[in-house]
Amino acid sequence: MTKEELANISLPRHIGIIMDGNGRWAKQRGLGRSEGHKAGAEVFRRICEYARDIGIEYLTFYAFSTENWKRPAEEVSAIMNLFRDYLDEAKEREEENNEKGMCVRYIGDRSVLPDDIRLMMNELEKRSDDKDVITINLAVNYGGRDEILHAVKAIAKRVEAGEIKADEINLKDIDGNLYTAGQPDPDLIIRPSGEYRLSNFLIWQAAYSEFWFSDILWPDFTSEHLDKAILDFAKRNRRFGGV
Ligand code: FPP
Repeated sequence: MTKEELANISLPRHIGIIMDGNGRWAKQRGLGRSEGHKAGAEVFRRICEYARDIGIEYLTFYAFSTENWKRPAEEVSAIMNLFRDYLDEAKEREEENNEKGMCVRYIGDRSVLPDDIRLMMNELEKRSDDKDVITINLAVNYGGRDEILHAVKAIAKRVEAGEIKADEINLKDIDGNLYTAGQPDPDLIIRPSGEYRLSNFLIWQAAYSEFWFSDILWPDFTSEHLDKAILDFAKRNRRFGGV
């Protein structure tokens, strides 16, 4: 995006991205599906850097859903290993990432993730907590319905403890108990690979999101595609239910 374009549009504060099409990308090249995820993880890294440089404040990537455990064990373990590589690398590059103001968050139910991954996530999250140029949420073992269920249980416990009355529960209580608590809702959700669905991604938060779809497969996604999505978004007329 040129400096001029950037100066003249209103940027989405929060972008959600569904990294889809890795398997098909690999198949097209006669490679195993895991190779597609590996290429996808590289694109994830590049897009994080680029989004930060142009001034996006929040970026949420759908990396592994609560339903993805149904995939062959070999594929699941390859994706877990990509998380490990990424977490190791993030630790190695901590100083550089801190200087860039990158805050990392993991959204989803991490209780069932392998111990080493969970510990690394907790550590990196804590150590980047005060960075405020860009927040990158990686959704791992994430499901929107699961997230809402988790929030409902937390609120029900407060009711059970007599802290609040059922009638007093409001939208802010639900927002405040989501994994994304304290963050703005996504303004723009991008799904490449020719699929036109949300697949349980940020279903509560996406109530007024704008959507951008494309046939490009995630490993082929570049900063130019992100620019295009942002420029298209800037032309949309968002009314949030008003006129
Ligand atoms: C969907 O494509 C992609 C996934 C379920 C996994 C995404 C994971 C990564 C990109 C790696 C994550 C690691 C880091 C460090 C971010 P698909 O496999 O469903 O593709 P297909 O529809 O073409 O089969």
